[in-house]
Amino acid sequence: MLMQGIRMSKIKLIFGFLALYALIPRTHAADTISANQILRYNETITSLKETFELGFFNPGNSTNHYVGIWYKKISIKTVVWVANRNTPLTDTSGELTLTLQGVLILRDTTKGNVVWSSANSSTMSVKNPVGLLLDTGNFIIHEEGEGINQEDPIWQSFDFMTDTLLPGMKQGRNLITGIDRRFTSWKSPNDPAFGEFSYWIDNRGYPQLFITEGREIRHRAGPWNGLRFSGISNMRSNPFYNFTFVVNQREIYYQYNLIDTSFITRLVLQPSGRIERKLWVDSKQEWSLYLTWQNDICDQYAVCGPFGSCNIGKSPVCECLKGFEPTSPDQWKITNWSQGCRHSIPLDCNPGEGFNKYSNLKLPDTRESWYNHTMTLVECEKMCKSNCSCTAYANSNISGTGSGCFLWFGGLVDIRTTAENGDTIYIRLSSSELGTSSKKFRHDPENGSGDEDLELLLFGFSKILKATNNFSMNNKLGEGGFGPVCKGVLEDGKEIAVKRLAKTSTQGLHEFKNEVILISKLQHRNLVKLLSCCIERDEVMLIYEYMPNKGLDSFIFDKTRKWLLDWPTRYHIIIGVARGLLYLHQDSRLRIIHRDLKVSNILLDKEMNPKISDFGTARSFGGNQIEAKTNRVVGTYGYMAPEYAGGGIFSIKSDVYSFGVLLLEVVCGVKNRGFVHKEHCNNLIGHAWVLYNENRSLELVAKCLGESINVSQVLRSIHVALLCVQRHPEDRPSMTSVIVLLGSEGPLPSPKEPGFYVGNTTGDDAQSSHSPETSSDNELSITVLNGR
Ligand SMILES: *[C@@H]1O[C@H](CO)[C@@H](O)[C@H](O)[C@H]1NC(C)=O
Ligand SMILES: *[C@@H]1O[C@H](CO)[C@@H](O)[C@H](O)[C@H]1NC(C)=O
Ligand SMILES: *[C@@H]1O[C@H](CO)[C@@H](O)[C@H](O)[C@H]1NC(C)=O
Ligand SMILES: *[C@@H]1O[C@H](CO)[C@@H](O)[C@H](O)[C@H]1NC(C)=O
Ligand SMILES: *[C@@H]1O[C@H](CO)[C@@H](O)[C@H](O)[C@H]1NC(C)=O
Ligand SMILES: *[C@@H]1O[C@H](CO)[C@@H](O)[C@H](O)[C@H]1NC(C)=O
Ligand SMILES: *[C@@H]1O[C@H](CO)[C@@H](O)[C@H](O)[C@H]1NC(C)=O
Ligand SMILES: *[C@@H]1O[C@H](CO)[C@@H](O)[C@H](O)[C@H]1NC(C)=O
Ligand SMILES: *[C@@H]1O[C@H](CO)[C@@H](O)[C@H](O)[C@H]1NC(C)=O
Ligand SMILES: *[C@@H]1O[C@H](CO)[C@@H](O)[C@H](O)[C@H]1NC(C)=O
Ligand SMILES: *[C@@H]1O[C@H](CO)[C@@H](O)[C@H](O)[C@H]1NC(C)=O
Ligand SMILES: *[C@@H]1O[C@H](CO)[C@@H](O)[C@H](O)[C@H]1NC(C)=O
Repeated sequence: MLMQGIRMSKIKLIFGFLALYALIPRTHAADTISANQILRYNETITSLKETFELGFFNPGNSTNHYVGIWYKKISIKTVVWVANRNTPLTDTSGELTLTLQGVLILRDTTKGNVVWSSANSSTMSVKNPVGLLLDTGNFIIHEEGEGINQEDPIWQSFDFMTDTLLPGMKQGRNLITGIDRRFTSWKSPNDPAFGEFSYWIDNRGYPQLFITEGREIRHRAGPWNGLRFSGISNMRSNPFYNFTFVVNQREIYYQYNLIDTSFITRLVLQPSGRIERKLWVDSKQEWSLYLTWQNDICDQYAVCGPFGSCNIGKSPVCECLKGFEPTSPDQWKITNWSQGCRHSIPLDCNPGEGFNKYSNLKLPDTRESWYNHTMTLVECEKMCKSNCSCTAYANSNISGTGSGCFLWFGGLVDIRTTAENGDTIYIRLSSSELGTSSKKFRHDPENGSGDEDLELLLFGFSKILKATNNFSMNNKLGEGGFGPVCKGVLEDGKEIAVKRLAKTSTQGLHEFKNEVILISKLQHRNLVKLLSCCIERDEVMLIYEYMPNKGLDSFIFDKTRKWLLDWPTRYHIIIGVARGLLYLHQDSRLRIIHRDLKVSNILLDKEMNPKISDFGTARSFGGNQIEAKTNRVVGTYGYMAPEYAGGGIFSIKSDVYSFGVLLLEVVCGVKNRGFVHKEHCNNLIGHAWVLYNENRSLELVAKCLGESINVSQVLRSIHVALLCVQRHPEDRPSMTSVIVLLGSEGPLPSPKEPGFYVGNTTGDDAQSSHSPETSSDNELSITVLNGR
């Protein structure tokens, strides 16, 4: 600043007199215009580092002349500001002067009139005004000699933005001066005159951004939620620029700043009404589109009317929010959504009214809203509840754990479902509509009749690509039931496992759907947690919490790693699996039969807590149903109960059988299938049965357990395992009993002969559709024990 001041004083000393009286044309690259200096058609001024240039130009193929500012160093002339946008000069006779009053004037010397000026009259007392083009692209008029106050100069081009927002520039309002900085598009690439479109901040209710065409609202960037404008899911941290939205007593504005000043980026409102973030690509010498937020029909303002939600994955795209129905069903059917939806059960200000939670949305128009940044969500709900005209509330700041309060009054318009970075809102409903699950998300990968209410976070495909390094081979964890499983890391550092449905697998699609629907309803610490799913561009994926210790099989069947699992850890795992299974069978709202419980489907978290995974083959049972029969037996040989593998009959007792096998494998450290005893050709179950009857059960115990075993726990575990694998389902204990028996000290019932299925591997139906083990197991002889 100081250097600049000295430099300018010098220029003034040398040129002052001449500039005032001699009016010598100059073409040198100074960055200033002194009072009474004239800038002509052929002359420009250039910012100190030659980033920007100010002078006369012709836009596109137009022969009209304008004064403007453009990038100096890039090969495509890109104008970022225009002075006389509506009053072009038709010839080269224009002269730009800075008056002694500090007003910039553009004269048409042919006609002898002023075509544009920076102010209509100056009431300010200015002594030595000087104009200066900064490297930010801002042209400012300030008082010479005083330090340059870039924040509050006499005049600045940044206060009169045309169609471009540059780094550091503020889009929005200065509530003190009344200045409203808004984009107005050019009429066309050849005509910078005011076009039809404006992009501006409306500060009624909570501030939001609108793109208007004439008087009509076309698009809305939702309220700032602390991280981004609601609904603009692609607004995220990036290597090029950071951004902020400021609301205070003095100002309301959006601003972005370069993180690395070697990048050239601008935000421009095109004549078409599209707002585009452009990035200069030096290697290609062109502007590339970095992002826009007008991508699909759901980005158009209020497409679905009040209480309607736009979901681009649906056809038709509009749906009523849960608890609402079309206001005019006939019009709705013919895709005229303008009247939107209304409460299925009208509100009557009954004290029983409450709020339902709706997630993954763009928050509705806030022009009729109220806000308080310090309230909590609980206070917010209370406040909304106490005022019958309050229709909804939400956190006003989702950053951190969430804080602040938005209240809405009247209809909720311009809601859309967003694939990622959506917001949550609580909407008032009558008491009888409450308690039903939240935002309806009809899940139908296959266009079937899926009618399940899910509450799932939807992830965008791009987010997953980024997290998994484009599904890089290095991130592959394994091959799951219906496709590869890949590790990923989200931007916030959270580790995930992504199960990607193989595109060719139609059976997989069915199982995928099954898994999503089932698991999304389950919450238990011994079940793997489904975080999200992604359905985009014919890709379907499930996103789980990442289990750093992978599958239990990677320990107990591994030569080295088996030594890491001592008895207490194995027992902890056994109990955990039993609890998870009990939850599935009994405690969850649904009765779920897993059907493919096995060692490799038990994942371990970093504390070695077991989590049951892979619900692709699970079935849920309604009410009092005990068992079911299927023609499609899926599961894994070695774990399937005889009545299931042989007759397709499954029940909670067929899962208990699988649990018994798993329990034996954990104790013995060998696979049931694949274990062949030298002497009696038994599989593991048969071998255990033989040793049990000879009081030699301890011989089964994995050698690696060494001193760590608790003899009575081990014997009890083997005993319970044999109870679980009894031939007849009705003899097997339920999972409740299993847990009681494992934990008790008392005597145990004697097991009856275990069930061994006589395998017939030629039938396709009986093939495990599922197990990565199957192929390798096929190489092993199948050991069959026919009773004794
Ligand atoms: C502009 O400069 C060109 C050459 O640089 C010259 O021929 C022309 O006369 C100049 N025009 C004006 C209006 O000064
Ligand atoms: C300029 O180009 C546009 C198309 O981009 C064309 O419609 C227009 O007629 C052209 N105007 C002139 C003066 O050449
Ligand atoms: C100058 O006055 C005209 C007419 O009153 C107005 O339209 C224009 O916005 C004013 N310009 C400035 C820079 O204040
Ligand atoms: C944005 O980045 C600039 C440059 O690194 C930094 O000075 C500024 O504080 C950042 N602003 C925000 C809002 O993070
Ligand atoms: C849509 O419905 C509204 C209200 O019923 C009606 O005024 C309008 O004409 C309809 N539009 C079309 C295209 O049918
Ligand atoms: C916002 O809420 C806080 C906490 O409830 C309260 O103290 C404050 O007065 C409220 N501010 C306004 C403007 O209502
Ligand atoms: C409810 O809120 C509206 C809008 O803020 C306000 O006009 C009205 O007075 C409030 N009613 C009550 C009973 O507080
Ligand atoms: C939003 O929340 C974050 C994290 O708690 C806080 O740092 C920030 O100041 C809040 N913003 C506003 C506008 O209250
Ligand atoms: C699924 O969609 C296809 C094509 O859109 C259609 O032919 C088929 O009948 C639909 N299936 C069901 C179950 O609706
Ligand atoms: C992922 O793929 C995209 C597009 O194909 C590419 O631009 C990007 O660099 C890739 N990222 C990684 C980490 O390979
Ligand atoms: C096995 O041991 C139990 C007691 O530990 C004993 O009662 C039983 O007779 C033994 N059976 C055989 C076959 O040794
Ligand atoms: C095995 O299955 C095949 C094909 O389903 C069938 O033809 C055959 O009779 C079965 N064999 C036995 C022993 O059940």
